[in-house]
Amino acid sequence: MKIRIAFFDTKPYDEAFFSPFTGKDGYEIKFFPGRLTADNASLTRGFDAVCVFVNDQITREIVDALCENGIRLIALRSAGYNHVDLKAVYRKIHVVRVPAYSPHAVAEHAVALMMTLNRKTHKAYFRTRDNNFTLNGLLGFDMHGKTAGVIGTGLIGRKVIDILKGFGMEILAYDLFPDPDYAEERGIRYTDMDTLYEESDIITLHCPLTPENVHMIDSGAIARMKDGVMIINTGRGKLIDTADLIEGLKSRKVGAAGLDVYEEETEYFFEDWSQTGVEDDVLSRLLTFPNVLITAHQGFFTQEALTNIAGTTMENIRLFFEEDRLPNEICYRCKDGDCPKETTGKCF
Ligand code: NAI
Repeated sequence: MKIRIAFFDTKPYDEAFFSPFTGKDGYEIKFFPGRLTADNASLTRGFDAVCVFVNDQITREIVDALCENGIRLIALRSAGYNHVDLKAVYRKIHVVRVPAYSPHAVAEHAVALMMTLNRKTHKAYFRTRDNNFTLNGLLGFDMHGKTAGVIGTGLIGRKVIDILKGFGMEILAYDLFPDPDYAEERGIRYTDMDTLYEESDIITLHCPLTPENVHMIDSGAIARMKDGVMIINTGRGKLIDTADLIEGLKSRKVGAAGLDVYEEETEYFFEDWSQTGVEDDVLSRLLTFPNVLITAHQGFFTQEALTNIAGTTMENIRLFFEEDRLPNEICYRCKDGDCPKETTGKCF
């Protein structure tokens, strides 16, 4: 039996990393460059599974259409799953993800944002190309001895901690589920949010987006931070209230912001808007600050991560259709810690 998979929101690099599987016996893959929407969900008729990325919003309407078309599996090419209405999906279609493809990729990108903003290499690049070899305005600080506040000490947060410890930084951490053994072994300190905000020179976000932590970084949180704090977000855009961040930047309370994600990124990221410009005034305002560095959700974008994403995604699909197993399934009960998976092997 051939497993027929419809890939959505595919870019040339997706096709490059998944193409080794297209010729394999047992798979029939079709790449659709557009995002999966309620309007084009009819394209999934005749397929067994869909494979989507972070900006394909899997709404109840789309879930109903997929069910009607006989889709049995939604394979996410991502770790994050906040773009899926898990309640709408539950007991209708199984959802699998790639829980870990390269925590190094995202962690290293987060640190790249920190280092660029600190040493202002983004400005130096343009300055020297213009034969301007002055240093005014490029003053940075030693990372050594500074304090980093890491929110979320999962796979990525821990890799960030490893790198920053290498610089000789003090680490304060906050996690809903602190791991005291890890803290002792790694020489870091778990603390409450207030202390992390008050004592950190750099704050970096590595927790998932959930309904409870939308806009966790808002004007109230920023007010409690150190003057000149650097905020790094490679987690999800909605963790930060962007309007409040802009106020923080304008008042110079926030010294720098490195954002690989943005709360309204769905409209713009991964696409070329250079000919038309963007209509989003908040994004446009952010882009005017010299101490803001925006990258378009590229934390995951390394050779190793894309290789692992392709391998795990295809294995997730194979295991479901050939062995009726779903080790990387996610459902809303998994999220609430009440998932029956351990006994049944599947979420439902
Ligand atoms: P993980 O599941 O290994 O770790 C997440 C940690 O956050 C866990 O320790 C969890 O207990 C903690 N946590 C959950 N809710 C929290 C809250 N409200 N406050 C503090 N801590 C909380 O996840 P991983 O692999 O480290 O990824 C973290 C996030 O990074 C993902 O959820 C995703 O949103 C984002 N990500 C971004 C990528 C990019 O390209 N920019 C790529 C991959 C992931």
